[in-house]
Amino acid sequence: MKKTYNIAIDGPAGAGKSTIAKRVAEELGFVYVDTGAMYRAMGLYFLRKGIPLEDEGAVSASCGEISVDIAYENGVQQVLLNGENVTALLREEAVGNTASKVSAYPAVRAALMDLQRGLAASYNVIMDGRDIGSLVLPKADCKIYLTASTRVRAVRRYKELEAKGEAVSLEEVEQKIIDRDNRDMTRETAPLIQAEDAVYLDASAMTIDQVVERIKELARERGLEA
Ligand code: DC
Repeated sequence: MKKTYNIAIDGPAGAGKSTIAKRVAEELGFVYVDTGAMYRAMGLYFLRKGIPLEDEGAVSASCGEISVDIAYENGVQQVLLNGENVTALLREEAVGNTASKVSAYPAVRAALMDLQRGLAASYNVIMDGRDIGSLVLPKADCKIYLTASTRVRAVRRYKELEAKGEAVSLEEVEQKIIDRDNRDMTRETAPLIQAEDAVYLDASAMTIDQVVERIKELARERGLEA
């Protein structure tokens, strides 16, 4: 099989991973793989079924009932949950928080690993998540750890919520981000960490264009022929 080129981007929630990864994918002609959306699809299943999220046994036992698949429509990732296209339902706060909770369980992570590795073996991908460079694609050609300060991430999220007409305070939003970081970084299974060979990028004071250019440059330095 032809060797594919893989870029892994990990980092905390709200650092801009998906916006940036989408842009890099477009500019390089790569497939963008959003692994958070896969965890969100699993989270949606547990929410719909009313499975208690703190009951690891119950969550793990129902993983066998779930099939998550990915399709692409005009280059945009669509997530299928047992055949139903649930893409439009995945951005809700509750779904994100559920994903963050259940993604700590090994059975949930195991259910998605083959799908993620299979995509990377089939296409040139830029894949974002929490454990892509450290566990899913340890041999990725180019690894980035993308972050930004909690305040910068909170302001961004606050503006999005404000635009949707949701009444929240900036402090509240920042606290949620800190809680989510703690959960994602301190869990036993596949915590968010910077892989040893990942390049650390703090985007707090960078524009999207600057981050995109930097990642393309890093990929070229790491053997991407383009
Ligand atoms: O990136 P996101 O906000 O869509 O991810 C939702 C949650 O899913 C995140 O809080 C942790 C989990 N996740 C994970 O554990 N591993 C990944 N590779 C991607 C997401």
